[in-house]
Amino acid sequence: MKKIVIYESATGFTKKYAEWIAEELQAEIKDTRTMNGVNLTEYDLVVFGGWLMGGRISGLEKIQKQNTKKLVVFATGASLDTKELVEEIRNANSLSGILFFYLPGGMHYSQLGFMKKTMLKMVKKSITKKENKTEAELHMEKVICTDFDMTDKKYITPLLEACEERE
Ligand SMILES: Cc1cc2nc3c(=O)[nH]c(=O)nc-3n(C[C@H](O)[C@H](O)[C@H](O)COP(=O)(O)O)c2cc1C
Repeated sequence: MKKIVIYESATGFTKKYAEWIAEELQAEIKDTRTMNGVNLTEYDLVVFGGWLMGGRISGLEKIQKQNTKKLVVFATGASLDTKELVEEIRNANSLSGILFFYLPGGMHYSQLGFMKKTMLKMVKKSITKKENKTEAELHMEKVICTDFDMTDKKYITPLLEACEERE
């Protein structure tokens, strides 16, 4: 069975999950920047992971362009893992009928450039203005402009199980 894990990662959280998943699946691994020439239709299983930016999964459109029959998608983000979040991500990224997993990432805020920091400050401001914040909003408000890491290898277990079911 030919398997590949493809990822897009700006600050390393998604890369870390992609490496854990590839190791467990004994799959090839490629960054979206180095996947030119890779024909995904040749693979029995393609796992794609990208980081969330404004609710969109970075790099996903590069994979959706190709005709991959067995696709499993994951996204990392700074958000808490909730049913609502997973539903929102599915809807915003046309993932109906595709196996999808949210894997808690983190933030390397101090490594980000001016534009990204500005965007995050704006998000923080808009949350601060809200009344009756949800637990997920309170979490975002607290951490969005800080450095933190929620990654844990245990979170990949459901994704691995779903990949095995597909074999
Ligand atoms: C400009 C910007 C927008 C972001 N938007 C979201 C978002 O909509 N939802 C979320 O959960 N995390 C969001 N994040 C957090 C990243 O998705 C998170 O840091 C991710 O784990 C980074 O992965 P990477 O280290 O592989 O780049 C955003 C981060 C930046 C810099």
